Amino acid sequence: MDITVKTGGLADFDCKILLVGHFEGSKTPEGAAHLLDKKCDGLIGELIEEGDFTGELYSSSVVYTGESIRSRRIMIAGLGKKEEFNLERLRGVFSKAAQKIRDLNITNLAASLDFGEAEFPVRETAQAAVEGAMLGLYRFTRYKTLKKDKESRIDELTIIENPDSSGLEDVREGAETAEIISRAVYCARDLVSTPSTDMTPGILAERAGDIAKERNLKFEALDEPAMKKLGMNALLGVARGSAEEAKLILLEYNGGKKDDRPVVLVGKGITFDSGGISIKPSEKMDEMKSDMSGGAAVIGTIKAAAELKIPLNVVGIIPATENLPGGRAYKPGDILETMSGLTIEVKNTDAEGRLILADALTFAGRYSPAAIIDIATLTGACVVALGDYLTGMMGTDSDLKEKIRNASDTTGEKVWELPLWHEYDELIKSDVADIKNTGGRAGGTITAALLLKRFVNDYPWVHLDIAGPALLSKDKPYIPKGASGVGVRLLIQFLMDRSRASNVSNP
Ligand code: BES
Ligand code: MN
Ligand code: ZN
Repeated sequence: MDITVKTGGLADFDCKILLVGHFEGSKTPEGAAHLLDKKCDGLIGELIEEGDFTGELYSSSVVYTGESIRSRRIMIAGLGKKEEFNLERLRGVFSKAAQKIRDLNITNLAASLDFGEAEFPVRETAQAAVEGAMLGLYRFTRYKTLKKDKESRIDELTIIENPDSSGLEDVREGAETAEIISRAVYCARDLVSTPSTDMTPGILAERAGDIAKERNLKFEALDEPAMKKLGMNALLGVARGSAEEAKLILLEYNGGKKDDRPVVLVGKGITFDSGGISIKPSEKMDEMKSDMSGGAAVIGTIKAAAELKIPLNVVGIIPATENLPGGRAYKPGDILETMSGLTIEVKNTDAEGRLILADALTFAGRYSPAAIIDIATLTGACVVALGDYLTGMMGTDSDLKEKIRNASDTTGEKVWELPLWHEYDELIKSDVADIKNTGGRAGGTITAALLLKRFVNDYPWVHLDIAGPALLSKDKPYIPKGASGVGVRLLIQFLMDRSRASNVSNP
């Protein structure tokens, strides 16, 4: 879909459908809807007056304009109550409207962001609208061979600004930012949706390499002998049950000054989690192709950071392997010596994510990071605690947590903090090694994070557990069910905010 921003009169614009908004409770059309209403003989006003269209959030009506204006149709979209309106709702409104327009087999649309009252900055408004439309229209069709499933698609979305608008440049920038970020989310969703047999550690590394090549990023994928040399025996232990070779994927985007310390992003890259010898029940095991969602989010984030030219140095580390119960698989009772030297007793081979992250976090220390953020589908316990709407956040640095919370509020990718209290360290003490890889069911998300903490040293660090929101079984307003790409928008927003803040402090 092409996204463009144009100026001009709505009534004269040549497109298949014009999209305008209306607040619930407003008696008459406002903003762009009011303008069009005047040109169309009160067509929209009548719809509202008769009560056929109330402006209820996510509702919409289509009217046919006859010869009165250039576009044959107008879609009026419900914005909900004015006092409850925000950019998160706007994303949903544009998603739902775009989905309906696609269902009508309409191939292009033009939309106005003039809803009568300008409450939010135009740049952010444009970004939210375009993101909503793009994210809501996502489909994973790689394996669909029947034409029916591919047929309708929207080729063009135009945002129309008033010719006398002073914010035109801002709207353009907002729309461009949205396009880059949405494509990065698409990239993450595609990686996650692809079945594990077609998304092995090797293939994931190749995809990351392709992205790096297109954008001139530093890229390396360490193979097993290289990891052996580094002493990454926890990662290699998990990999032993699989015939696929593990990879440690490294991506580097250097948009900052030469010696700016980087933000290091570490993403769990289990391309399939069967549980290993402590095998999972077969019901829903298919969903475990999504156990590399953290890695996919890191790849998407670095891609977008490069395209947005964010003036920061960012490193991505993705430990990638399958967790399978092969003949050489690691077993409960095994003790693994990590790269840091700490030993871990394996109580359950299904608690593999923390093992591969332990070595990846130690490796992260080599970059003298300004901050480390890891993102992982780490624990079922987090899904039990927070459901599929929230990411669990734990970490050692209040400032970093605050910044992530802010990015979460801006993007709608919600995080909720769980405590990292040392009282629970007791639960991961081992009789035979330094620590063990599970602390039992109680507080499972916290004990997993406490294990990770042991591998971070003193760097400001935050851990994001995305086990809930990574893969959705039901549609959300602008996230179709399936892989959500969660984390990409959050991390990009965090990086954008951080680069702006550092510009202010070192002019
Ligand atoms: N990848 C899973 C966690 C998960 C569960 C993600 C459900 C998404 C949805 C992780 O590797 C795992 O299996 N964790 C175990 C840990 C337990 C054995 C201590 C879990 O949560 O059951
Ligand atoms: Mn597991
Ligand atoms: Zn896992």
